[in-house]
Amino acid sequence: MPGTLIGMVGASPQKVAVFGAGYVGLVTGACLASLGHRVIVRDVLADRIEALRRGDVPIYEPGLDELIAGNAERLRFTTDVAEAIEGADIVYIAVGTPPTYSGDADLSAVWTVVDELPQIERRTVVVMKSTVPVGTGEKVRHRLDERGLQHVGYASNPEFTAEGTAIRDFLGPDRIVIGSFRDEDGEAVEALHGGVDGPVVRCDVASAEMIKLAANAALMTRISFINEIANVCEATGADVVRVAEGIGLDRRIGPAFLRAGIGFGGSCFPKDSLALKQLAANSGYHFQLLNAVIEVNELQKRRVIGKLHSHLGPLRGKTVTLLGLAFKPHTDDIREAPSLVLAGRLLAEGADVRSWDPVVDGTALHGVEIADSPEAAAAGADALVLVTEWPQLADVDWVAVGATMRNRLLIDGRNMLDPETLRSAGFVYEGIGRGPGTGGGS
Ligand code: UGA
Repeated sequence: MPGTLIGMVGASPQKVAVFGAGYVGLVTGACLASLGHRVIVRDVLADRIEALRRGDVPIYEPGLDELIAGNAERLRFTTDVAEAIEGADIVYIAVGTPPTYSGDADLSAVWTVVDELPQIERRTVVVMKSTVPVGTGEKVRHRLDERGLQHVGYASNPEFTAEGTAIRDFLGPDRIVIGSFRDEDGEAVEALHGGVDGPVVRCDVASAEMIKLAANAALMTRISFINEIANVCEATGADVVRVAEGIGLDRRIGPAFLRAGIGFGGSCFPKDSLALKQLAANSGYHFQLLNAVIEVNELQKRRVIGKLHSHLGPLRGKTVTLLGLAFKPHTDDIREAPSLVLAGRLLAEGADVRSWDPVVDGTALHGVEIADSPEAAAAGADALVLVTEWPQLADVDWVAVGATMRNRLLIDGRNMLDPETLRSAGFVYEGIGRGPGTGGGS
């Protein structure tokens, strides 16, 4: 896939500065370069910029290395603000906006970028890619005006790329959302996307900011909804996999994001749900549904512990293996991953915890033993918990694995495996929401 994207020149070339060489900044920069623009990515982290100049991409995202290498002549990296801004038509802000203790988004990195913009003479448009609370654009506009930068435009162009498919999502999006105060600023951002095939939604800045938060909230709501249906399936004997299929065929509902499991994680959903909850609360509104979505998700991560108890009794001294650590496959990201909560709970219960992940370096999980294959992680264990649906797990020889285990129990936190295959390999198999008689709690 990525090979075909290199150098797909479509838009009239512009000079673009991207502030932030993190996940969003690098994907944005590389994709814009592949559209034929001249891009310079700026970050404060000198080591990161040095690595990128050498061709070492600091994040794991399928196809990104190739896209960066294939567009090297149009893609530069710097720590220097003046060098980045020199001649830029468009300045993207793609810095992190992590949650603060209060749950509000921490915008300090955004403000640093806005405040360090030099006195730009030309007509440049500052474009917000970072996820920010509704109202941020208004404040940035005000700050630019105060600094005598009235001629500098402002637009909101939120990102909807998912980790693992980010390049495909950027270059073949469901939609491109562009919010602006002035039409010409929106037009400049739209022109930048020439060559990208997808509907464009042009709107005011506040609505663009809200579209981003609401889209993620809608996706999270679907996940918590299907997880609650799964929990009711467990209590009543239905199979949530069939239920999701049955409701997903209704065109008004659709099949996406109806995979029940052990809850959502990652760098976006947990953070953005808190940010939207706080945004509403700060405006005097109690966002009841979103609160429930968050709470259901927290409880969902912990339900696996109850399943282990019901099969093994007290977990002290038992060896439990986590298959997968990343919050989802095809990423090395463990931010807010269910594996972190599971590992913490299991260690607190006195269990010995082992893990395997093909990409995540698990050294950050203190007290968890890391194995280099699913087979090695399973040997001698009392239970396996499938945490991340890595495709490699589909090829495991479960008969051979089961023969090395102290007790053959597998909790499939992603409903990835075929219950009958596991049962015929001698396992007690339990999925999520796959009630008795349907592949569930034998
Ligand atoms: C998400 C959104 O999908 C992107 O559109 C958005 O741009 C991004 O957040 C962001 O705000 O930056 P991402 O966090 O990379 O992307 O991952 P997703 O594929 O959406 O998965 C999020 C979590 O939901 C994962 O833990 C996944 O396992 C879980 N999930 C997803 C389910 O439990 N069930 C499903 O049916 C789908």
